[in-house]
Amino acid sequence: MVNYKVADENLAEKGKEALYIAESKMPVTAEIIRKRFSKEKPLKGITIAGCLHITKETGILARTLKAGGAEVYLCGSNPLSTQDDVAAALVQEGINVFAWHGNTDKEFYWCIRECLKEKPNILIDDGADMIVTAHKEFPELIENGTIIGCQEETTTGVKRFKAMNKKGALKVPLFPVNDARCKNQFDNELGTGQGIVSAIYGMHVLFAGKNVVIAGFGHCSSGMALRARGLGANVIVTEVDAIKALQAKFAGYNVMPILEAIPDADIILTATGCKHVIPAKTEVFDKLKDNVILGNLGHFDIEIPTKELYEHAKEIKPVRTNVEELIFPNGKKVYLLAKGRLANLVLSEGHPSEVMDMSFALQSLMSEYIVKNKDSFNPGMINIPPEIDDKVGYLKLKTMGVNIDKLTDEQYSYIHGYEEGT
Ligand code: NAI
Repeated sequence: MVNYKVADENLAEKGKEALYIAESKMPVTAEIIRKRFSKEKPLKGITIAGCLHITKETGILARTLKAGGAEVYLCGSNPLSTQDDVAAALVQEGINVFAWHGNTDKEFYWCIRECLKEKPNILIDDGADMIVTAHKEFPELIENGTIIGCQEETTTGVKRFKAMNKKGALKVPLFPVNDARCKNQFDNELGTGQGIVSAIYGMHVLFAGKNVVIAGFGHCSSGMALRARGLGANVIVTEVDAIKALQAKFAGYNVMPILEAIPDADIILTATGCKHVIPAKTEVFDKLKDNVILGNLGHFDIEIPTKELYEHAKEIKPVRTNVEELIFPNGKKVYLLAKGRLANLVLSEGHPSEVMDMSFALQSLMSEYIVKNKDSFNPGMINIPPEIDDKVGYLKLKTMGVNIDKLTDEQYSYIHGYEEGT
């Protein structure tokens, strides 16, 4: 029996079309790994709960885990990122889904709890909410060994787990899949980089000639800066890390503090994982340029001070789906994308399938790795084995028809030795 709560089961046909498109663009996850999983069933008897953005790409991951023998439960990792058609289609395939677009905070956690009630063995999280809830409300799953390992998909989640680990509060083996090279160098940089197009979808705005402020110069934000420049924008980068700021400066961007950048900004896009990147102060709001577009691509809705902006506005008008016009007491208008939530997932469909192929190939292989090695882990953060990261890289190249060189024995000894010098 399939357990589920989705927005509308009648959307399944549309969801199947979306999944069909993603399948062919994710050959590592959907073909190579799935084919082997179908034969070997490495996840037989295992229940996997994923708290992930319910997109067509997550659907492909779910299909592969199911093909490997797992019972799969899914809930959304953001109240606004669920694609209701995909959720409906997955239910028809026997995947248990508790997710719908626009759920409230209370409903969001209800969905997480429904998945945890099924006593999952592996948790795949995106932002840490499910695993933190397991620690708080389902400790028996950890204490009695039901949960054998956990995986985290995004930077903000990894940071939360590092903080938990430091305090000795992380009680499960936690694999930060986000930190794998095959994940953050492609998913974060390319996916979120291209995600700035969501700001175009939102307001149908021309980037060329605009002053576009990109907050951060990390994995996501450096990709966003590059794409914004490619579209002809005058890009201004803000940072708090001296080295990242230097990188941005040497890459040819204007670098300055956010307060200096704000008055001339036509578009401000954040992806820092930090809080109140635009300071939550009335005097700062009043300095924003009339008609400025504000969009966030970081995990939580507090990079842009959404709550405080709503409180400051004398009028809030929805101007199109997931875009609001905030009219301030001084008469200025500000356009807020996606209620300050991940604009690329809310206004568009999230990352292109091609990059999610690598992220979800890693999640698939890591699920297998956890099952195979479950008796050897201690609670805490455990790095992704480099051989799994490399394997995904090789497989991806293979599907793209790209060959690369291999170290000779002589070269290997040279770069791993110290004897040879001048
Ligand atoms: P990162 O750690 O590589 O980069 C973050 C950068 O922001 C760092 O260079 C940091 O110094 C800078 N920063 C921190 N506070 C700042 C502030 N107040 N002002 C200016 N710069 C500041 O992290 P990454 O991987 O780029 O992730 C950023 C956020 O995006 C996270 O919340 C992550 O979970 C999220 N994310 C979103 C995705 C999406 O689809 N929209 C995909 C992947 C990650």
